[in-house]
Amino acid sequence: MSELVLHVTGARPNFPKAAPVIAALEARGVPQLLVHTGQHYDERMSDVFFRQLGIPMPDINLEVGSGAHGAQTAAIMTGLEALFVERRPAMVVVYGDVNSTVAASLVAAKLGILTAHVEAGLRSFDLTMPEEVNRMVTDRLADVLLTTSVDAVAHLGNEGVHAERIHFVGNPMIDTLLAHRDRFDPAPLRAELDLPQTYLVATLHRPGNVDRPQDVQELVQAMHAVADQARVVVPLHPRGRDRLRAAGFFDHPQMQVVDPYGYLEFMGLVRGSAAVVTDSGGVQEETTILGVPCLTLRPNTERPVTITHGTNRLVRRETLAEAVREVLAAGPLQDWPVPPLWDGQAGPRIAEVIVRRLAGAR
Ligand code: UD1
Ligand code: UDP
Repeated sequence: MSELVLHVTGARPNFPKAAPVIAALEARGVPQLLVHTGQHYDERMSDVFFRQLGIPMPDINLEVGSGAHGAQTAAIMTGLEALFVERRPAMVVVYGDVNSTVAASLVAAKLGILTAHVEAGLRSFDLTMPEEVNRMVTDRLADVLLTTSVDAVAHLGNEGVHAERIHFVGNPMIDTLLAHRDRFDPAPLRAELDLPQTYLVATLHRPGNVDRPQDVQELVQAMHAVADQARVVVPLHPRGRDRLRAAGFFDHPQMQVVDPYGYLEFMGLVRGSAAVVTDSGGVQEETTILGVPCLTLRPNTERPVTITHGTNRLVRRETLAEAVREVLAAGPLQDWPVPPLWDGQAGPRIAEVIVRRLAGAR
């Protein structure tokens, strides 16, 4: 029987999660195939991660590109179905909660191929988020559920998932962070952007913030009230760029909007910042380890461990400026707890679960 492990990646947050899993399986001599769906395709949203994180170049790129949810998910499914039938992997590994994740899970389930979900069990309980739909469907279908936090284990248990399917392995995104931490240097971008000592970083791309005109208007007001207090660097995701520009987001002297950065540059910038304003999932986790205060501009989070253990706090657009004032007045954090198993060893733990499962399936 095939021992091939096939990884499906496609969007920016997948790459730092997959890197340590691929490396750990490689170290154990497991045959692997890396598929990129092409959901993200800009140099700064994709290729740069492969170069900087030493991920092998994808064996196959489906080049599906952007589209409405149905069209994009269907295109990924069509491409993956042909590939899975041809290559017959022993296991498919999917990451996170993007459309590429759910598309791969559906195809693998219909073909009866074992599936492992890295970052299983996270729940915002907010079905207006496309990611929540993707998470729920993926977890319902996957055979091996690899979790990053204790609350994720509990959610799966509450949904009736048998304990045998759940493995609490820690956070592979944090493996990547810890492996490259020494390379996170704010100095080059400080010089290039002519930044003052105290500056903030913001990333904004959730549909709940950047899609509807009313939300965009409120976001612009809230962020300008932040920029009244300190310089804000915004490596802006392409999703809301045109709408934010049209709504005047860029038009504040302290608002420095730039293209997305590569992983190392971005993490260097965050490391040197006084605080981060974000609606990203991954950034809530990264700031938790770096000890940078994180203000999450969302009504909920699927990552509550970053609040109980990390530096994260949920804020609304109306309360953002006040929260920034508090964080700047408080100054750098001295001490904060770190979530269990966010220790840089999630990749090897995941590889161990996969190898054992493949041995059992043989
Ligand atoms: C996707 C994920 C989201 C994740 C985000 C990370 C889904 C449903 N959403 O959202 O969970 O937080 O990625 O970055 O999978 N675009 C480009 N260049 C690119 C990619 C996208 O210009 O390389 C633009 C296109 O106009 C596209 C839009 O961004 O229509 C949205 O891209 P898409 O992949 O559909 O969703 P994201 O908002 O990126
Ligand atoms: N990131 C990056 N450059 C940027 C913004 C983000 O390298 O300009 C990285 C960062 O490590 C983050 C990851 O990309 O954790 C995925 O972030 P994104 O916000 O796109 O996705 P999410 O985690 O919200 O799904």
